[in-house]
Amino acid sequence: MCGIAGYYGSGNTCEVLLNSLKRLEYRGYDSAGIAVSSDFEIHIKKAVGELDDIKSDLDLKDKKSKAGIGHTRWATHGEVSEENAHPHVSCCGRFALVHNGILENWEEMKRELGEHRFTSETDSEVVVHFIEQRSQDGCVETAIREFMKEAKGSYSIAVLDSKREEVFVMKNGSPMAIGIGSDGLFFASDIHAFSEHTENVVFLDDNEYATVRGSELVVKNHKGKIVDKQPKTIKWSKKSPNKKNFEHYMYKEINEIPSVLRKLEKTLDRSQKNDLNKFRDMLKEHEKIIFTASGTSYHASLLGVYFLQKAGIEAQALIASEFKNYERADDKTLLVPVSQSGETKDVIEAVNHSRKKGADIASITNVPHSTIERMSDVNLRINAGQEICVAATKTFINQLYTIMRLSSSIDGANYNADLANALKNTIQKNEDKIKELAEELSDEEDLYIIGKGEAYPIAREIALKLKEIAYIHAEGMMAGELKHGTLALIEDNTPVVSLIPDGNSSIASNVKEVESRGANTIKLSPHNKDFWFPERNESFVFASTILGFLLTYWIAKRNGLPIDKPRNLAKSVTVQ
Ligand code: AGP
Ligand code: GLU
Repeated sequence: MCGIAGYYGSGNTCEVLLNSLKRLEYRGYDSAGIAVSSDFEIHIKKAVGELDDIKSDLDLKDKKSKAGIGHTRWATHGEVSEENAHPHVSCCGRFALVHNGILENWEEMKRELGEHRFTSETDSEVVVHFIEQRSQDGCVETAIREFMKEAKGSYSIAVLDSKREEVFVMKNGSPMAIGIGSDGLFFASDIHAFSEHTENVVFLDDNEYATVRGSELVVKNHKGKIVDKQPKTIKWSKKSPNKKNFEHYMYKEINEIPSVLRKLEKTLDRSQKNDLNKFRDMLKEHEKIIFTASGTSYHASLLGVYFLQKAGIEAQALIASEFKNYERADDKTLLVPVSQSGETKDVIEAVNHSRKKGADIASITNVPHSTIERMSDVNLRINAGQEICVAATKTFINQLYTIMRLSSSIDGANYNADLANALKNTIQKNEDKIKELAEELSDEEDLYIIGKGEAYPIAREIALKLKEIAYIHAEGMMAGELKHGTLALIEDNTPVVSLIPDGNSSIASNVKEVESRGANTIKLSPHNKDFWFPERNESFVFASTILGFLLTYWIAKRNGLPIDKPRNLAKSVTVQ
């Protein structure tokens, strides 16, 4: 899940790389490092920790250099340590290398390499020694092509060659974007890493590598044949993300929900209208609709199934990491990948797999120009803007809204045309009560959230948030399932949050069942005046989600947790 960056140009290489790494930190924050080439030598610095804390340890600004690479790590192979932090350097010191992905046959390659000075436990270090060994006739490109032939697994790699003061990049399965600017070439895991420098971008495809000749970019396939890549022009805001007056991105992003929802409403009615219609037609025309996604996006997909079934369309949702074990995709299938980042590896694999079996792809993503967007026949962007906190909040709401609009374009079901306002009120009118509830629940170790029908995916989503951000073991479940086992865990004062939309009376008996066992029940319902809810019932899923997000935030804040960067996680999961 690491973020990689590279630069070749006339600017201050270290500064460019540090700025890029800051924007890529959502991909991993275990450690970071940079290497620049100056006077035909590699200069390298790395440290463990978050970038803001270790920035001064990575300072190489005084080195005059036109080429460099950088990395922010989410460890897969080898513990979090300075030795395992990237870049890794070859024995003779000619090459430094950063890697995003997992090399599956690294042990075999390591054995075949023979004598080399390995200093880390990572799979990635094997590659730098391989490049050194196979470049011995002087040609780095030969080594790169041989690596691409022999390597198994996923990688996006940047190599710094100090002898030629150049950067090489290659890709298979993990993303690599290249920005072409007036002051140089920018290499990175995503386009935001260099958005302040250029609007012209080339995306490498799998089994391609790129080199710099003079100051020109040359892209080749794994056989060494030049590939003609026309840069895409991307319009974006050059503003760097900041927290404004908010203490945490999570809280800022929850408060952005009304405005990003309004923006989405507009684009679905205007600039994305044709794509919305195309998507709707594809849903109607295909025999099999399969949503696939991970984590929060999977919960949005579960609601997608609920809405589409109501609209008379057969649909199912499969967790992307288990896709291959359960799918039956074919040429009558429409696969609907839902992904905030558009880069989640498990989802990309499901797309590739379904494509091979003849399925069409209609995706819902947030990050513009992501891999999944580019792999799709039609795509809807949820337009929530950049989300920095690892927890998906505003993007989940916009995913739900997009899915609801799609299904209502099929069955004409009502949706609240003033939802953004309703959600603004939900945030403002409930804040104090949620803070009180957070205070009451902040020492709990286990918590249950129950719901039925459309509230069930929301129960799971709130539970996921409580786990990842508030570190509370939480279970989100179908209310009717309690009596089949979980009820055994309900004791005096066990907290159970019930999600009760208007007209969902059958959950009342499930709530009674837990109350009879002494549970401390918290009812999120328009009938219960404890919390303010928008009048229209179609808003319930949105409003109750927001209450769950706020509850999570205030518990985590009360307990002094690292809200925006929870332990062991990264925002974009680009490994399987
Ligand atoms: C959300 O709070 C999580 N951090 C996580 O479950 C996330 O939703 C999941 O990794 C999927 O990411 P994607 O939407 O970018 O594909
Ligand atoms: N496998 C590499 C490591 O552990 C890169 C990890 C990644 O991309 O997440 O250092």
